[in-house]
Amino acid sequence: MEKAVLRKLTLLCVICGFAAIALLGVTAFRDGKREWKDYQAEYKELLLKKMNRERNPSFYDRIAGMEPEVKQVVIDEWKTTDRCMSCHMGIEDPLFTDAALPLRTHPYPELLKNHPVEKYGCTICHGGQGLATTYDGASHRTIANWPFPMVPKELMQSRCGYCHKDFEAIGANKLIKGRELYKEMHCAGCHQIDGQGGAIGPDLSNFADKDPSNFSFENLEGKHSKQIWVIEHFKDPQKVSPGSPMRTYAMNNQQIEWLSSYVLSLNQRNLQRQYTPKVKADFVAPKVDVTLPEAELYSSSEDEESSE
Ligand code: HEC
Ligand code: HEC
Ligand code: HEC
Ligand code: HEC
Repeated sequence: MEKAVLRKLTLLCVICGFAAIALLGVTAFRDGKREWKDYQAEYKELLLKKMNRERNPSFYDRIAGMEPEVKQVVIDEWKTTDRCMSCHMGIEDPLFTDAALPLRTHPYPELLKNHPVEKYGCTICHGGQGLATTYDGASHRTIANWPFPMVPKELMQSRCGYCHKDFEAIGANKLIKGRELYKEMHCAGCHQIDGQGGAIGPDLSNFADKDPSNFSFENLEGKHSKQIWVIEHFKDPQKVSPGSPMRTYAMNNQQIEWLSSYVLSLNQRNLQRQYTPKVKADFVAPKVDVTLPEAELYSSSEDEESSE
């Protein structure tokens, strides 16, 4: 008799457990979907407030009848689907310059004119996870070991260098300065870029597209991302990669930012012509092959005799 009661109780518990899990699942699913829908509802409300029905009733009614839908841009060229605009609804809309994020107009409308959203999406410049429709999923903040972090503000120019090789033409000052530092500090003694330089360290020609899983984060505290690795490695190569022959250079944070932007821009993508910026007829990419004899690269600068 007691056994039967126990069995019934167990069964009840199991049923309750399942019900709870199901309920939780539904809530999570709902909330995941809610996020972008709420922003779209807010966008619609704000837009209707800014519009005048008398002036253009058919347009007004169309907006008023707008149903929430996932907005996306598919770009075959670099195999991306970007849904960022599902929340960033006002990104191209000049009426939203004073709205709060994510509805606010892009801070550089000119930039979006040169790189139209429907042709470029967002992640080619910003990184992040294009397919996601949640704030966390899109990777606004660095998630441990996540391969697609959003590019921090300070390193945005690295993305311009994906396509633009004439840094002067677009005023990419960080890339210009990073390239100069690379030359001044004789990095080419150990590293190759496009076939120029030494072979003691890894070839950096395609560093931008090197998979983050190839980096060891064993000796790094805090958040893990490739960008953080690069910055910390420049601050102290031996700490991040014990036994590395690369020494710690005397660089301030700004210089580290320049150099990091530069190395993170290096890639060998062959984009179609429509995505390749035109360059002036006389443009020649500056050389970075100021090579020092190997022996001098290893000696520290203090005990080194002037070679002039
Ligand atoms: C679920 C809605 C949502 C999606 C999807 C989304 N965002 Fe955002 N985004 C936000 C919100 C909300 C903020 C403002 C958060 C804040 O104030 O910190 C924001 C802020 C930003 C900022 C400003 C910097 C910052 O972190 O504060 C950038 C840049 C950005 N988003 C880019 C993107 C890109 C690129 C994508 C696509 C990969 C994307 N967002 C997808 C909601 C979204
Ligand atoms: C051609 C490159 C490029 C593209 C494409 C691009 N952005 Fe940006 N975006 C930038 C740059 C550069 C900044 C400025 C970063 C800074 O603050 O220094 C920026 C800034 C932002 C900000 C910060 C606004 C603020 O007020 O802090 C948001 C949000 C944003 N972009 C969203 C987007 C979204 C969403 C898309 C796609 C619809 C997109 N961007 C497409 C280059 C781009
Ligand atoms: C996916 C490749 C790509 C990326 C990434 C990219 N651009 Fe461009 N950009 C282009 C192409 C293609 C053009 C078209 C104009 C041309 O043919 O020169 C262009 C045009 C421009 C122009 C207008 C130049 C002119 O001569 O009319 C500026 C300025 C510019 N980009 C700046 C930037 C900046 C700043 C960034 C980074 C925030 C950036 N671009 C990122 C491909 C790119
Ligand atoms: C004495 C040789 C030497 C010099 C000089 C040198 N490096 Fe390195 N570098 C290495 C070696 C070896 C590694 C691989 C071990 C490690 O992670 O430190 C490396 C790693 C790197 C990495 C990570 C590459 C990857 O694919 O993991 C970058 C980026 C880098 N170096 C950039 C630079 C820059 C920029 C300079 C100039 C400021 C420089 N290096 C100077 C030898 C050198």
